[in-house]
Amino acid sequence: MGKEKVTRVVLIGAGFVGSSYAFAMLNQGIADEFVIVDLNENKAAGDAMDLNHGKAFAPHATKTWHGTYADCKDADIVCICAGANQKPGETRLQLVEKNLAIFKSMVTQVMESGFDGIFLIATNPVDILTYATWKYSGLPQQRVIGSGTTLDTARFRFLLGEYFKVAPGNVHAHIIGEHGDTELPVWSHAHIGGVPVHTLVEQREEYSYEDLDHLFVNVRDAAYQIIEKKGATYYGIAMSLARITRAILRNENALLTVSAKLDGQYETDDVYIGVPAIVNRGGISNILELELSEKERGQFRHSADVLKGILAPHFS
Ligand code: LAC
Repeated sequence: MGKEKVTRVVLIGAGFVGSSYAFAMLNQGIADEFVIVDLNENKAAGDAMDLNHGKAFAPHATKTWHGTYADCKDADIVCICAGANQKPGETRLQLVEKNLAIFKSMVTQVMESGFDGIFLIATNPVDILTYATWKYSGLPQQRVIGSGTTLDTARFRFLLGEYFKVAPGNVHAHIIGEHGDTELPVWSHAHIGGVPVHTLVEQREEYSYEDLDHLFVNVRDAAYQIIEKKGATYYGIAMSLARITRAILRNENALLTVSAKLDGQYETDDVYIGVPAIVNRGGISNILELELSEKERGQFRHSADVLKGILAPHFS
């Protein structure tokens, strides 16, 4: 029996999101090795020490250390969480200039290590920076993945579950488009146990379309609300990153609304954007094309156009 390959994940950026991702990865025992890289070496070393001290309670003996870009050589996944994050009232797209600049340097250093795995990008604006990582790395597009609207979809499923009093796992609903202000809910394919959400609204007078519209606004604006309260978001995104990482390392063929490169799907191309995609050991193996309503197609087109407008000055 051949020796199982040791799985290694390298995290670049041990800020709120990166540290929370590390914590989620250790507690869920997803990888065999977890390496923390940060400009602030003390932070990376402190996180590694702190996590190792809880290892006795972890479900898997994940070997954790603070490392350097050289550790990317044998990594299956490099997850980038480094960069400036939103200040209160700031949109994700307003971060593009600051974060594009550092991404070129980080991605170049990762590739110089001989890395030949999968990039997982979380830094915002995530759709733009995932496209940039694809360009800078030269890796095949299916091996460059952004967290996309995975978190937004989780928020959507949670809030729908609260509203209809069912477990989020039984709510099938997607948020697609930009991970940001132009994202959209795919109501035409939202269902609970096979019953369309709109049917539920028609059946019971305690439910209303106004409530659903308000619910979506809370999904779309969740980050602003959390940032107002505690200054940043990190647990939800970290758990989303851990979910995507698990789908890759366990070769799950899981359907997740990650940021994927389109080549004509949804009548769109040359952009990374949140769409339902199948995620496995090779990265993104397939993109699911939902039959959108006329309204949803228009909203998606607008979202893609906004992203392409941001990309154009940098990658035309
Ligand atoms: C959020 C950040 C990750 O939506 O963009 O919480």
